[in-house]
Amino acid sequence: MISEKVKKLKPYVAGIQPEGDGWIKLNANENTYPPSPAVANAIKSFDFARLRLYPNSDSNELREAILQKFNLETLECCFVGNSSDEVLAIAFQTFFSGKTNILTPDISYSFYSVWAQMYDIGLTQIRLNQDFSIDVSQYKNGNGVIIANPNAPTSVALSKLRVEEIVKNNPKRVVIIDEAYVDFGAETAICLTKKYDNLLVVRTFSKSYSLAGLRVGFAVGNSQLINAINTVKKSFNSYPLDMLAQIGAKAALQDEKYFYESLGRIIVTRDKTARALKEMGINVLNSSANFLFIEFEDAKEVYEKLLENKILARYWNKPRINKFLRVTIGTEKEMEAFIQCVKQL
Ligand SMILES: Cc1ncc(COP(=O)(O)O)c(C=O)c1O
Repeated sequence: MISEKVKKLKPYVAGIQPEGDGWIKLNANENTYPPSPAVANAIKSFDFARLRLYPNSDSNELREAILQKFNLETLECCFVGNSSDEVLAIAFQTFFSGKTNILTPDISYSFYSVWAQMYDIGLTQIRLNQDFSIDVSQYKNGNGVIIANPNAPTSVALSKLRVEEIVKNNPKRVVIIDEAYVDFGAETAICLTKKYDNLLVVRTFSKSYSLAGLRVGFAVGNSQLINAINTVKKSFNSYPLDMLAQIGAKAALQDEKYFYESLGRIIVTRDKTARALKEMGINVLNSSANFLFIEFEDAKEVYEKLLENKILARYWNKPRINKFLRVTIGTEKEMEAFIQCVKQL
């Protein structure tokens, strides 16, 4: 009754969403601050009678706002989807389906290997350097590339120059750069999409725009790539983004003042937390994201002790990273509670 492929499929395991109050939730890299008030205003002033109609299937108004913000040439360079997970899944299907030797770091966003199973893709996992940086020179001679920049769960970023090197070294192969966390401190490659026809940059509203609950993501690339993605999308779901998500994301994008203020607060707290940990002699990777990757002699034990104190972090019992915890940056107060708990341990 159930296909062999589905029987073998190992789905992505997301961070726990705990029930009840009192949790310090540092396990899903959500934004610790609420979204811009402009989002609520836009949704409240929406005429709900319109919900009887289907939404604009191409999210034209939102794409127009993205075009303005990133100075894109035409709407044909932008695709919007129901979360960046969906955009990435469609991009995997469009460009990598059935192919082998798609290059990706050995430590990265674990959803990539799930989509690889789904679409019969052979990933070639390239070992990160000892310091968890990416060795750009190894990203050659594959049939495509997928990299998160900054990488997750390591938080380490590649410069735009290095990304460009990868794009140049892979002509006629699609290079996908997943920029879920880029606003927190890395350089975006969006401007390179005008120069290279093989680069697709994928973004989300879940992290820096604090809209994980609204589920909006987008991709920027050459119009040929975007056309191909649209073909797959329109063979799957014509209306992936509901009306409220379209207007909410647009309002968030246009409130730049709020965006930069909340981003700044997160960055200050992140750097302060990293300094406090380093002062305790704890190794923390240099983060360009809204989370820290922290080394502990017994990371699992620290994870469990934090849990007893209602602090949720993320731990993977996997080779090379089983001595690390990934900890999302919360409010100043939450991070102080986290530091206190680590001190006690
Ligand atoms: C590297 C990376 N890419 C993409 C996503 C997906 O984000 P969303 O589906 O909320 O847009 C995540 C989520 O945590 C992530 O860590």
